[in-house]
Amino acid sequence: MTFTIGIIGGTGEIGEGIAMRLSPLYDVVVGSRDTDKAETSCECCISSQKEQGVVCTLRGGSNQDALLASDIVILAIPFKHLVTTVESLHGFEDKIVISPINPMERAGHFIYTPPEEGSAAMKLAAMLPDSARVCTAFNNISGNRWRALDTELDYSVPVCGDDAEAKGIVMDLINRISLLKSYDAGPLSSSHIVESITPLLLNIARFNGMKDVGIIFR
Ligand SMILES: NC(=O)c1ccc[n+]([C@@H]2O[C@H](COP(=O)([O-])OP(=O)(O)OC[C@H]3O[C@@H](n4cnc5c(N)ncnc54)[C@H](OP(=O)(O)O)[C@@H]3O)[C@@H](O)[C@H]2O)c1
Repeated sequence: MTFTIGIIGGTGEIGEGIAMRLSPLYDVVVGSRDTDKAETSCECCISSQKEQGVVCTLRGGSNQDALLASDIVILAIPFKHLVTTVESLHGFEDKIVISPINPMERAGHFIYTPPEEGSAAMKLAAMLPDSARVCTAFNNISGNRWRALDTELDYSVPVCGDDAEAKGIVMDLINRISLLKSYDAGPLSSSHIVESITPLLLNIARFNGMKDVGIIFR
């Protein structure tokens, strides 16, 4: 099935990397608060893909454009901007909404700092209309790895969500990207477990002199 994927904050570390990997497979709209920045990011994606001999379909626009054009929207923004960004947009009804957002702070080492709703994904779901189907995914893969198009992505991707159809669509999308393999990680209320893995990975990288640490379930 073909989908249009909108990426809100699609110019950032992870958003741009996800756009690079998804645009050869799907129609992608890179969103930004600044449409010129979104277009520049798309040019960067297209030229990186060309170097790999890959043709991709993507265009830039505002975050609102990316949301309205999409069937599936990825919220690739820092947790601290989640509320203001969601409040500034309309049209989440009936969308599949993917949250890769990890609320955390750095105080020497990384600490998971969830909101009172329990996780970023639960906070997001509470702000959206009931018909929006939120899934947690892509929380534990570094932006560097998304952008390194000359290497495969060979990680496991846990997915949380309450709508079985939406979760199936997201898991299928993940399984089409490089060597990623998706796993059902339970209901949306389990998202805090997935989000909290990222500060663990960053601490392991930091204290053990490693880079881009990820997870593989075996
Ligand atoms: N970076 C990673 O390796 C990684 C890995 C896994 C998960 N994540 C999660 O993915 C999310 C994005 O991370 P990131 O590192 O990609 O973030 P980022 O590069 O710091 O920011 C992403 C985008 O957010 C937008 N933004 C910045 N300030 C904003 C504001 N005040 N209001 C609205 N939008 C604003 C910017 O887009 P415009 O300026 O174009 O609007 C920016 O390009 C985070 O929640 C993070 O926890 C990141």
